Amino acid sequence: MSMNPSHTDVASHGGSRSPRVERAAQRVLVCDDEELIRWSLSEHLRGEGYVVDTVSNGRECLDAALRESPDAIVLDLKMPVMDGMTCLQKLREGGVTAPVVVITAHGAVESAIEATRLGASAYLSKPFDLREVSLKLEQAIEKDRVAAEVSYLRGRQWSGYGSIVGRSASMRSVFDMLRRIEEVDAPTVLITGESGTGKDLVAQAVHNGGPRSGAPFVEIDCASLPENLIESALFGHERGAFTDAKQMKRGLFEVARGGTIFLDEIGEMSPSMQAKFLRALENRRFKRVGGVVDLPLDAGIIAATNRDLAIEVERGRFRQDLYYRLAIIPINLPALRQRADDIPLLVGHFIEHFRKRVACSLEGVDPSALEAMVRYSWPGNIRELRNVIERIVILHRDDTMLRLGHLPPEIRFGQAAPTMAGRGGFVLPDEGVNLEDVERSLLQQALDRTHGNQTAAARLLGITRYALRYRMEKFDLGK
Ligand SMILES: Nc1ncnc2c1ncn2[C@@H]1O[C@H](COP(=O)(O)OP(=O)(O)OP(=O)(O)O)[C@@H](O)[C@H]1O
Ligand SMILES: [Mg+2]
Repeated sequence: MSMNPSHTDVASHGGSRSPRVERAAQRVLVCDDEELIRWSLSEHLRGEGYVVDTVSNGRECLDAALRESPDAIVLDLKMPVMDGMTCLQKLREGGVTAPVVVITAHGAVESAIEATRLGASAYLSKPFDLREVSLKLEQAIEKDRVAAEVSYLRGRQWSGYGSIVGRSASMRSVFDMLRRIEEVDAPTVLITGESGTGKDLVAQAVHNGGPRSGAPFVEIDCASLPENLIESALFGHERGAFTDAKQMKRGLFEVARGGTIFLDEIGEMSPSMQAKFLRALENRRFKRVGGVVDLPLDAGIIAATNRDLAIEVERGRFRQDLYYRLAIIPINLPALRQRADDIPLLVGHFIEHFRKRVACSLEGVDPSALEAMVRYSWPGNIRELRNVIERIVILHRDDTMLRLGHLPPEIRFGQAAPTMAGRGGFVLPDEGVNLEDVERSLLQQALDRTHGNQTAAARLLGITRYALRYRMEKFDLGK
């Protein structure tokens, strides 16, 4: 008999994608009315490294399982108070999914079959060998773990790609595209989308999902560098190529060799730099600034921009040939307001994410708060949503619910003025507004909607009742 059962080993035999985490000892609940069996089973299983709890009838087993959620249960069938079969049924009805190994009387094939039908993972018939117990238990736990992992991975695939969360139709087509280019070596990808829609995240995902994921991923922000610096950053320069060039310097095209270059904010690149970049892309070769030797450009190219490049091309601000060259694989990230059905998922995702860092008791989201978030227009897209949730997790960590009152006024407010909004938030019309009129109209709408209930109207407007009264007087409302 193995005296050194390492359950952590069992854990790491699984699929290659499962993280190798050290698992805590498995907890087993042993239920049998015979004291001697309880004793020998628990002694044996403790010796095998399990943490064991014992109970002596089905009723106690049910209570303990619901309370402690053990990793596995060993269950005798013939017991007073509540027999094992009833207990098994109630366990499953109560949502206990832990694998159950039942103990049947010798030759009781019928009951073994019945128990399996009710969801038992395995059975042992009396008298049993203790080695058989550990073996069946270990197999049952492993099977359960694999099943849980599979459903987790499925859930993950269904709601995202890597760390990119989404299940709306538009995001699914993004994920489809990402899966299709996984096999492509050094793809040329153009990612477009408003600020905060996840362009950086997707660029990383393209690299990490591709055959070059082990090689460098280098990023350069074209918006923050002046033209001459971009050129030497990308191509490198020879010693003495210009006044400050005291040493030869390799460029990012060289550093990223075999990997991926991410050119962020490509829309900001100057026309002459666009020309040089295009030449390098087409020839797949380049020279260091001031150099004569041709070097190979051996890297995947991912460019991103929050501008509409087609329009930039039309206006003559972006080279058409470069645009076509880059847009071989175009990925357009939808704005968050265009995929509002992803908002609840993202809210849950970010609450989970920040809960890991901050001890907080947030467990759910109030429906009115969720509704406000779904209606809001999110001009800053996912970055804005993420920041809002982070702030709430920090400031309201003692609350169990994320409530409407926790949300910043622009999100709460968006709800009260649908006529002004594109979809939720305010858009200042080109011709401007009269702010007093807007205020008066919103006050009136809030009062109408709440049938004159000032407390409720104040809440809709995100102000105190005192502030509401003051404004009602100012605008001569509610008389
Ligand atoms: N689908 C998503 N799932 C989870 N997190 C996301 C998703 N999209 C974006 N994020 C997160 O939102 C934030 C903003 O994303 P990112 O920096 O990729 O946006 P961006 O499009 O590059 O914005 P900018 O144009 O301003 O550079 C990041 O913290 C990112 O991790
Ligand atoms: Mg970015």
